[in-house]
Amino acid sequence: SGQHHDMAHGHHMAPGTGGAHGMSVDKLRGPRSGTPDRRFSLTAQAKKVKLASGRTVDAWTYNGRVPGPQLRVTEGDLVEIELRNELPGKTPVTIHWHGVDVPNGEDGVAGATQDAVLPGKSFTYRFRVEESGTRWYHSHQAASEQVERGLFGALVIEPKKQTRPVDKDVSVLAHDWQTDKGLVSAIGASDELERRRAEPGEKVRVRLTNTSGATREFALDGVPYKVTALDGTDVHKPTPLKGKKLVLGGGNRMDVEFTMPDGPVRVTDGSAPDAGIVYSPDGKGDLNADLNGGPEFDPYSYGSPKKTELRPDSDFDRDYKLVFDEWLGFYDGSFGLKQTINGHVFPDTPMLMIKEGDLARATFINRGSEDHPMHLHGHHMLVLSKNGKRASGSPMWQDTVLVRPGEEVQVAFKADNPGIWMDHCHNFWHSKLGMVMHLAYD
Ligand code: C2O
Ligand code: CU
Repeated sequence: SGQHHDMAHGHHMAPGTGGAHGMSVDKLRGPRSGTPDRRFSLTAQAKKVKLASGRTVDAWTYNGRVPGPQLRVTEGDLVEIELRNELPGKTPVTIHWHGVDVPNGEDGVAGATQDAVLPGKSFTYRFRVEESGTRWYHSHQAASEQVERGLFGALVIEPKKQTRPVDKDVSVLAHDWQTDKGLVSAIGASDELERRRAEPGEKVRVRLTNTSGATREFALDGVPYKVTALDGTDVHKPTPLKGKKLVLGGGNRMDVEFTMPDGPVRVTDGSAPDAGIVYSPDGKGDLNADLNGGPEFDPYSYGSPKKTELRPDSDFDRDYKLVFDEWLGFYDGSFGLKQTINGHVFPDTPMLMIKEGDLARATFINRGSEDHPMHLHGHHMLVLSKNGKRASGSPMWQDTVLVRPGEEVQVAFKADNPGIWMDHCHNFWHSKLGMVMHLAYD
């Protein structure tokens, strides 16, 4: 069944040893002393959750809620989070801070950066948040099952100085729920239209987050809006948009801002035609069925204002070429579908070796028929080009790069966070079928 290829099982490195290169993950923890600026406690627990439509799901939750509590912190904060496990049976759990470049020992990858936390046990994460933006958190143990069941939540890192203050700041986490009637797409636990009030003139920021593996297409109508950030990194000089398709791969986030008009504003998710949010002054309004027809918003034509020493023509110390494809046949004695990297499935996929300070380039080539949102832990990737077309003068930063069928995407990153890091498809079913590799510092 491929179970032994799941990212949290059958790992070929012992926890706490950092693998074959003698680097101890224990030395790569966040600050162990100092009073935290923010302290949270997240308890993993099973709970029957009622979606807005009345359908129930057997969810696994942090603190009994789906999504889990929104964690709001400020850039520079020392954050401490205690994870407790109250899941049934022997179900182990962790937390990964998606898009936060934490020290390796705080990364929450069971079997690599820590031992999974068993029921009745706890683990305390401590790290300083250096960069503002929309992030999220989720379990990284048997993620295809645990994230799908609800072990995720929003993590918002506020800038020290708010440059674009808003009146309403909401996290919208779009998810696919496994119910007794099949897969149901929802916004959080809401698989129906939600009506929310907003006064004309109010400034609203919506932090769209795709917590499932499949690519989602959001749309917003009723007012011109701006996409101000992608994966938590600011977009360079955003312009007012109308009628665009906002495409988010699994794990991606997009911040959208608008000023409330007199009429209703609708936020829809193409995968969840029954769900959606309507903002209106009187709390009324319905969904507009044909919202998703517009052309795709292209974040790469904007880029990011963030300064970097990385250039498309930098002298790269490492150059990785990674080809993704499907394989249907016998593998390890069983017949089935695999998602491969350079013809292999984890743990036989390439190990990307690197030295601290190296500038690296990676080319992702998708020869398969499905989308692959590639997520690199512990680092941000600068998107250099897509299908040979170079990014604008100021390339975009992402922690998860969507590579669609037939596409070739080139990224660069700096090796500035020692440890052993996962690099995998954020469609957790694909990672379970083999699409996992590691970046390892010597
Ligand atoms: Cu958001 Cu390896 O995960
Ligand atoms: Cu994939």
